[in-house]
Amino acid sequence: MSFDFQEFRSHFPILYQDIHPKKKLVYFDNAATTQKPISVAQKLDHYMMKVNGNIHRGTHKMAADATKAYEDARDIVVNFMNASSREEVIFTKGTTESINLVAFSLGELCINQGDEIIVSELEHHANIVPWQMLCQRKGAVLRVIPFSDKGELDLDAFASLLNEKTKIVAVNHASNALGTINPISEIIRMGHENGAYVLIDGAQGIAHCEVDVQKLDCDFYAFSGHKIYGPTGTGVLYGKKEILDKMPPFMTGGEMIDTVTFGETTFNVLPYKFEPGTPNYIDVIALGEAVSFVAKYGKPALFEWEHELYCYAMSKLRQIEGMRFFGEADNKVGIISFAIDGIHHFDLGTLLDQLGFAVRTGRLCVDPIMDHYKVQGMTRVSLSPYNTKEEIDQFYNALLRLQQMFL
Ligand code: ALA
Repeated sequence: MSFDFQEFRSHFPILYQDIHPKKKLVYFDNAATTQKPISVAQKLDHYMMKVNGNIHRGTHKMAADATKAYEDARDIVVNFMNASSREEVIFTKGTTESINLVAFSLGELCINQGDEIIVSELEHHANIVPWQMLCQRKGAVLRVIPFSDKGELDLDAFASLLNEKTKIVAVNHASNALGTINPISEIIRMGHENGAYVLIDGAQGIAHCEVDVQKLDCDFYAFSGHKIYGPTGTGVLYGKKEILDKMPPFMTGGEMIDTVTFGETTFNVLPYKFEPGTPNYIDVIALGEAVSFVAKYGKPALFEWEHELYCYAMSKLRQIEGMRFFGEADNKVGIISFAIDGIHHFDLGTLLDQLGFAVRTGRLCVDPIMDHYKVQGMTRVSLSPYNTKEEIDQFYNALLRLQQMFL
């Protein structure tokens, strides 16, 4: 394999620390947030310490330089997702805001009493609640695509849910709890054949899966900067220009306007119509750096190594008796959610932390998935290409050790 994972890892100094006395950090919580490469931190530092001027407003040099860097970051994202124009890339504060923007604004445009919106049983709360509230406001109906115990969406059930009342379909690219990579090309095609708009929640897909929005033909694709080695408080909403043009503004204020009188306001062109107020421009500039960092390695190379780590981890963890795995879809990102007989997930998470392992435990913001498996919570390992096989060996040994404690 040509991918040099040690070199990749070397860009993340946070990984080389003792998190407790004599306990080296093993960071397995990448679905919650990823760590940041040095170049992203340097970009933040540079614009905070040397080039801070409010963008799109000032005539002075720092304002002009920061504006250029912000718009350059947009171009980087446009290329990364293969959007057809920069008008289609809106900066938000994360996936949650991107989905809320669409639920509110597209909801105003096209949802009426009796219409139907389809989500899946595999969604994060952020891709359920905005649609549920839209349905409540408009008297519309939320429909749900079920998944099998293996963790795969039932596309026959999806086909039978689609009908002339379906206006929007919103599903994730990859599940944050089970790791399933959903067949989104198929879902988008089916949704469109039925005349529905299709939104993809890419929070977990963006760092792992190829995303070419023109090839996918999705109407919207939402993601967060902090899941792809960028800063928190940054995100992207890709939307097709012809749809965004028709959608009313979501939040209002400065910059998203064209003219304002007390009688009437006219709105700015895309993408600014959806970027009110002073944007989080320093972080967005650093998000551009994070995206360039990933693009330099290429997602196929990163995913190939992550998948090797995932297969290695599964081959080890399957050897442990009393482990129950949740979701074993054929097509997965590097997420392993599990329970161990006789050990509560909070106890397990706390004890693992004492040994240096950062994992996530609990309901993982996916109550419907917990209900599906009839569990109160899970323990989740989520991998990044900066993890190593040695870390997986250490984790395996730690689990065996903790299991002994609970005998
Ligand atoms: N949605 C993030 C996770 O799955 C926070 O942990």
